[in-house]
Amino acid sequence: MNQELHDPVNDPSEQHVIGVGPWEGELPFDEKYDPELLELGDRRNVADKYRYWKMDAIIADLDERRHDFHIAIENWQHDMNIGTVVRSANAFLAKEVHIIGRRRWNRRGAMVTDRYQHVRHHPTVEDFVIWAESEGLTILGIDIFPDSVPLETYDIPKNCVLVFGQEGPGLSPEVHAAAKDTLSIEQFGSTRSINAASAAGIAMHAWIRRHVFGQRVS
Ligand SMILES: C[S@@+](CC[C@H](N)C(=O)[O-])C[C@H]1O[C@@H](n2cnc3c(N)ncnc32)[C@H](O)[C@@H]1O
Repeated sequence: MNQELHDPVNDPSEQHVIGVGPWEGELPFDEKYDPELLELGDRRNVADKYRYWKMDAIIADLDERRHDFHIAIENWQHDMNIGTVVRSANAFLAKEVHIIGRRRWNRRGAMVTDRYQHVRHHPTVEDFVIWAESEGLTILGIDIFPDSVPLETYDIPKNCVLVFGQEGPGLSPEVHAAAKDTLSIEQFGSTRSINAASAAGIAMHAWIRRHVFGQRVS
């Protein structure tokens, strides 16, 4: 191919390539860099700031500034949402992700973001509640129950765990009973609910608006 005429932005064969190639110029001397990534390039799904960093160094950097909210999701059946929930928890920098119920969960959708996240498993709701109470966290259920209150006008506490239910059954009666409050996200169309991954993104961002940007609710 004529190199001068080659336009990588408009070349379909290059459009799937993300990240950066091998480090150019003098190699940086810092423990956080991964020699193999420097040599071969870094095609991982990481923010530009973390290009060429070792995974452990990225996790250590995230650990320095994780937020005070946790998220939890019930996992009693096969649910495709969990991977996407974990990816959003990584993006919004939740302290930890909690899987309640079955240990195995479908990682598709997580895009390997779970490797940078602390994921804890609780076999039963009771185990989860004991853990949350021992950490002094307010348990908030997220679902559309008759006694739910609107997320949009709820003053979310800083130290909390937001719990999401499954496609189909939604939050279990045990989590409903254990939660200080259950919050619903206002909808306007004909569908009864949105999926858990969408609800999780909205609820996590409500915490971010309140506690990172200081936006108060009326
Ligand atoms: C598809 S919903 C489950 C069905 C729902 N319990 C029902 O009555 O139809 C799966 C999960 O998504 C979340 N969810 C979906 N729509 C929601 C909404 N409008 N407000 C709050 N949570 C919602 C909840 O965590 C829920 O447990």
